[in-house]
Amino acid sequence: MSLHPFLASKKFLLGTFASNCSGGMTISKLDESWDASWEKNLKLAQLLDQAGIDFMLPIARFTGYGGEKDFQGTVLETITWTSALLASTKNLVVFATIQTAVNHPVAVAKQIATMSKIGQDRVGLNIVAGWNKPEYDALGLVLPDDHETRYGYAQEWYDLVQKLWESDESFDFEGQFFKTRGSYGKPRPNYIPPIFNAAGSKHGRDFAINNADFLFTPVSDLSRSKEEVTELKQLGLEKGRDTNVMTFSHVICRPTQEEAQAEWDRQLNNTDIAALDNLMNIMFAHAQSFPAEIRQLLRDRMAVGHGGFPLVGTPEQVAQSIIDLDEAGFSGTTLSFLDYIEEFPYFRDTVLPILKEKGLR
Ligand SMILES: Cc1cc2nc3c(=O)[nH]c(=O)nc-3n(C[C@H](O)[C@H](O)[C@H](O)COP(=O)(O)O)c2cc1C
Repeated sequence: MSLHPFLASKKFLLGTFASNCSGGMTISKLDESWDASWEKNLKLAQLLDQAGIDFMLPIARFTGYGGEKDFQGTVLETITWTSALLASTKNLVVFATIQTAVNHPVAVAKQIATMSKIGQDRVGLNIVAGWNKPEYDALGLVLPDDHETRYGYAQEWYDLVQKLWESDESFDFEGQFFKTRGSYGKPRPNYIPPIFNAAGSKHGRDFAINNADFLFTPVSDLSRSKEEVTELKQLGLEKGRDTNVMTFSHVICRPTQEEAQAEWDRQLNNTDIAALDNLMNIMFAHAQSFPAEIRQLLRDRMAVGHGGFPLVGTPEQVAQSIIDLDEAGFSGTTLSFLDYIEEFPYFRDTVLPILKEKGLR
């Protein structure tokens, strides 16, 4: 199969993240906190599509984080959400985020192939190998303690998905976790969709390098990120893989720095503390994406932006921070806003032209 156009892009890629979840990426008690309604998601997708934004990425989640507003407790399911958005847009790539343990690979291969037809090849796949113990409890599933099993399962899962996309003939699959007879997938997608993975652990990163086109990693400080990105790309090259690295950012863009800073403070001062505590406890018990020494520093950034890189300031400052990400070697970033629909147009009208002028878009 030929290279998907998304992978051939030379632009610094921009997408939104988590608009399918209540609260988005801001653990906030504020009234204008994102409610993740379908109507708003549809409107946002159309705004992004018209503005030439590259993609939308949802979170797959079945339980929220409690607190006053049950942060990320109201969640639009990602296969149905992605299908409907693909049918309602023209250029945007829409990712389906799929948890390997929750979705059978033979069904997923067909769901993605169907979405590739609905969206003229614009579907992407974000593979999640699992980390959230309470969510597994709610699903009646067992989260394996060790990363070897989690990612071993994910590898077999994706091997089977890929085989269904690529095979003309029916086949038998003999794995440790999946044993199938006479499997085939029709229709097949025209391209292998762009693959995202966000792993922090050693096993997870190996999985990402072996399978994903884009690996997500948070930014704690940019000079460290530069080394990390170079290292990840080098590891990819050693395996003959073109590994791109992405991050996720939270945007507060205002006409003056004072206004942007005041808005950051307002969001922080209205954190839903109980939900933040729950998230921090769950996340750091079962995932290794954030090194221990930076966890405390991350608390504020977790409250405002779920650990994302803060793009806070004037349009010029926000654009410069995106240029810094580009210079550190990142291929793109997701964006989140307290209210995506209210705030995206200002970003579109003021930041995108600067990025274009600087050659990033
Ligand atoms: C950008 C990004 C997107 C993610 N999307 C999801 C998701 O939708 N659902 C989910 O359960 N976990 C999601 N995760 C969690 C990761 O896929 C991964 O399971 C977690 O970071 C633990 O990685 P590790 O097991 O390698 O330490 C996401 C993480 C990041 C940084």
